[in-house]
Amino acid sequence: NPSIKMPPQVAWDSGSLSGAPLMQKTTHLGDLNGIFADDEAWRGGDPALAVYRVEMLDTPSGDGELYTGVTHLNPGRVGNEFFMTRGHFHARREQGEVYFGLRGEGLLLLQAENGQTRLERVQPGSIHIIPGLTAHRLINTGHDILSALAVWPSIAGHDYAALSGGFALRVTTDILKLMAKEVQNG
Ligand code: 6PG
Ligand code: NI
Repeated sequence: NPSIKMPPQVAWDSGSLSGAPLMQKTTHLGDLNGIFADDEAWRGGDPALAVYRVEMLDTPSGDGELYTGVTHLNPGRVGNEFFMTRGHFHARREQGEVYFGLRGEGLLLLQAENGQTRLERVQPGSIHIIPGLTAHRLINTGHDILSALAVWPSIAGHDYAALSGGFALRVTTDILKLMAKEVQNG
């Protein structure tokens, strides 16, 4: 007899995963030494403050397997720089990834190996194709939690060290105001 399996679920409004074994990792302000431009503001913050949490389906790894996870990035700033994920290239540089905006308002910062950056607006329903050879970071410019669903090859891995000098673009309250003006002026 054929049988119907109940698959895992994502709640589209909150990004919460359920119905399958999960893994979870929270990154606190104290873990993000050297990530924000204003070091004094970073040191003045509460190191135990949760900046983002990643929940992932605990699915098989290996050649051809895909991972599925949701990043929940809290609203907030260090100095005038918005809360963001650490950001990374994939260790296997050629491996891409897809992000889907679920909740909140923010930006996806993409950076090519030559240092060229671009920004995409993340909002509920947005689809972001991250090509290979492209570093990526989520930035929460809103007042709500920013949640984004991601699917990526399990073999991709993470290379954080390649960006230890920081991304070439920082999103601050000032930059955001400038960009809003540019949109108005066309
Ligand atoms: C990945 C995804 C994504 C990412 C999180 C946290 O390749 O695993 O891009 O799950 O890891 O958004 O961002 P950081 O790994 O940069 O801390
Ligand atoms: Ni990634």
